[in-house]
Amino acid sequence: MELYMTKPISGFSKLSKKDKIDWLASEYTTDPIQTKTILEQYWNSDEKLQKLHDEFIENTITNLYLPLGIAPNFLINEKLYAIPMAIEESSVVAAASKAAKFWGGRGGFKTTVIDTEKVGQVHFIFKGDVKKLETFINAIRPKFYEDTAVLTESMSKRGGGIKDIALRNLSEKLDNYYQLHCTFETMDAMGANFINSCLEQFAATLKREAQNYATFTETEKDLEVVMSILSNYVPNCLVRAEVSCPIEALNLSKEISPVAFAQKMVRAIEIAKVEPYRAVTHNKGIMNGIDAVIMATGNDFRAIEAGVHAYASKNGRYSSLTHAEIKNDMFRFWIELPLALGTVGGLTKLHPLVKLNLDMLGQPSAKELMQIVAVAGLAQNFAAVSSLVTTGIQKGHMKMHLMNILNQMNATHEEKDALVLHFKTNTVTHRGVVIALEALRNN
Ligand code: MEV
Repeated sequence: MELYMTKPISGFSKLSKKDKIDWLASEYTTDPIQTKTILEQYWNSDEKLQKLHDEFIENTITNLYLPLGIAPNFLINEKLYAIPMAIEESSVVAAASKAAKFWGGRGGFKTTVIDTEKVGQVHFIFKGDVKKLETFINAIRPKFYEDTAVLTESMSKRGGGIKDIALRNLSEKLDNYYQLHCTFETMDAMGANFINSCLEQFAATLKREAQNYATFTETEKDLEVVMSILSNYVPNCLVRAEVSCPIEALNLSKEISPVAFAQKMVRAIEIAKVEPYRAVTHNKGIMNGIDAVIMATGNDFRAIEAGVHAYASKNGRYSSLTHAEIKNDMFRFWIELPLALGTVGGLTKLHPLVKLNLDMLGQPSAKELMQIVAVAGLAQNFAAVSSLVTTGIQKGHMKMHLMNILNQMNATHEEKDALVLHFKTNTVTHRGVVIALEALRNN
């Protein structure tokens, strides 16, 4: 079959949705009829709603569903939340719910927003006298504020705006490289558009003023702006979430004493602090919880992932985002991480489910959402590591995965009920499920 022998197409984005699908189905799929059926199955029957989704991105052909689950009973700063989580991994919501219930009975989660500073930079090349550049930037600083006044007006009314514009000399790392390192407060908005608009104006102001700066030589006047863009590394947009309880309250199971459990938890965290191979997986488990809430609330999970992992390496080695200690017979477990989130703008009012999820969370401010998300990460890590240091994760994972295997094998309702019962007392493995289902069918 001559698949993928197709020629490049021009003007694809201008084709109708139907034509895009026809082209795709005939050029790139083995079964064009089935392709169209599957794609159409996932269209929303409400045409207006489908149009809304079509217009989120270019070249939309259908929707890719993710399950939206709820992890209830999260007691955060004395307030109970039911947290929406959008994720495909079968055990994540169950694990979050379990951790929420466990800590709900032990005082709940306590959280603090440490800071909310966002960052953006204008990167430029300047070939000349550094002292003159410093004097120049100081002289024109008011112009940056004046030129962005129209952009910052409504943000200022909400209590935000530009916090600082600092010249940074990075010429030791790269010849003639400097930047305007700018910090912002964007209140309940994630602020990407606001920050990038301000930065592009700073860049224009910088170029214009350099051209007119009498003491610059011709080369100095000709400073080159390379790019202006926000940074997703926001080490000062920081939140902390914590749980603690007397050690004797860590009575998880009969198999392990509370003291042994607390010690093993601390050991596991110590390992993730010193060993990057473990730290990556440890933090991946944290991100299971974080990303699921980020997705459910319409925030940018790629930005969060990038920033969080950079933060995990801030001391020069990739390390655990969570911490644990035993002190005065108390067990304390906490997370500190940067989260630049928004509860206004972006998808928050546009996507009906995102809007609903924010409503479920009590219309949180960005600061509140930072706290909820940090808690979801901490809870997820507690659930994962407590399983790892006791029973191992496979038992729970495979129990949750059982349904996926049964669905793959087109099991009926009755077969599913029978096998869920069977695997309550038997270890779930892919082969084991296949054999049990075949045996059931043969009977
Ligand atoms: C799986 O998605 C996440 C875990 O591997 C996290 C961890 O190892 O801590 C269970």
